[in-house]
Amino acid sequence: MNSSSSYWENYYSKHREPADCSPFAEFITPFLKKGKRLIEFGCGNGRDSKHFAKQGINVLALDQCKKEIAFLSDKFKSTKNLIFLAEDMTNLPDLENSDFLYSRFTIHAIDRKGEEKLVKWAASNLKANGLFFVEVRSVKDELYGIGEALGDNAYFTDHYRRFIILEELHQQFTSNGLDIIYSIESKGLAPYKTQDPVVIRLIAQKK
Ligand SMILES: C[S@@+](CC[C@H](N)C(=O)[O-])C[C@H]1O[C@@H](n2cnc3c(N)ncnc32)[C@H](O)[C@@H]1O
Repeated sequence: MNSSSSYWENYYSKHREPADCSPFAEFITPFLKKGKRLIEFGCGNGRDSKHFAKQGINVLALDQCKKEIAFLSDKFKSTKNLIFLAEDMTNLPDLENSDFLYSRFTIHAIDRKGEEKLVKWAASNLKANGLFFVEVRSVKDELYGIGEALGDNAYFTDHYRRFIILEELHQQFTSNGLDIIYSIESKGLAPYKTQDPVVIRLIAQKK
């Protein structure tokens, strides 16, 4: 867990219902295959997981927000290929190996130790040739430097954000046996209201 878990519980108590999926979810949809298994880390109100389940993917959506997960579990109880579980993504038990892993705007929500544990877990819970999709805020994002400096490129405003260095993220993946097959760092990929953050998108593949 992290010091922002109550921030996210509060945020999702006001944004309970899954809205439209993110541009990143749309971007990765052509890589997915019906009937395969995907785990989402930090699903929030489940908007992207709901979209993947609609494509016929078997989805396990994880988040630390217990109340939001309870709400979503009840709302989607008759959708057999969409399961929600309250879990800390930095401390997961081994699960049935997956074809796909998905993390959008969550790696910058955890500290470096958590990132190390998550990527290690991903490498051992992904099938051979399986894909891990990541979208995360870069150190080049204009929010970088705003708020209380916590060290290691992390800042606290009303919640915790640790901005990511592209080359370090590559190294984290490759040192765990995950090849980078796609990588971009840019504005224009995740616009939200008046914001247009610089984000990193990665697709990594297990050898
Ligand atoms: C910026 S929101 C992104 C939500 C969703 N992926 C999206 O793009 O709409 C970050 C999410 O990560 C979750 N999160 C942060 N740290 C977590 C952890 N250690 N374990 C599980 N979920 C976590 C938060 O509860 C929150 O729902």
